[in-house]
Amino acid sequence: MWIYEKKLQFPINIRRADLQMAKFLFAQYGGPDSELSASQTYLAQRYTMPTPETKALLNDIGTEELAHWEMLGTMIYQLTKDASPEDMRAAGLGDYYATRGKGIFQQSPSGEGWNAGYIQVLDDPIANLVNDMAAEQKARAAYERLMNMTSDPDVIEPLARLRMREIVHFQRFGEALMSLQNACAHIYAKG
Ligand SMILES: [Fe+2]
Repeated sequence: MWIYEKKLQFPINIRRADLQMAKFLFAQYGGPDSELSASQTYLAQRYTMPTPETKALLNDIGTEELAHWEMLGTMIYQLTKDASPEDMRAAGLGDYYATRGKGIFQQSPSGEGWNAGYIQVLDDPIANLVNDMAAEQKARAAYERLMNMTSDPDVIEPLARLRMREIVHFQRFGEALMSLQNACAHIYAKG
């Protein structure tokens, strides 16, 4: 179970509307390599991991990805909340507004709704962890691209914190991979 803490992992206080940037942030909110995908991947993979430590690691990181997803939703909300329908249309969000108003929907910047085809859940711990390390690098690179697309420090700072956490997750998955490979050398050395 989870206990909800009524605060964001990092504070977000965006003072200036930027609809284009809001649109781009949907990549990490509901795109293929989004925080939503990471959370659902890790929280589902954890059941069949072979050790208490790797189950706990996926539980911890999957939970943190949910907190990151919440941060992205908050950023999109703050960037769009004062926009008029005309503003939305001018920023390329006319289709979005017509369909969902200013609800914060799980989709990519180009409008594809999030789906479970974006996630990877196997019963092979090595395949899962290698997938997860790649996912963390894709997220790190995504945050770097997003930081390149704005000069607003209110937006850059939370993106930089998120980027930093992806690097930590990559390292922790790497340590877990090494520990499993050492523990299971007799299996993985076969052939
Ligand atoms: Fe992550």
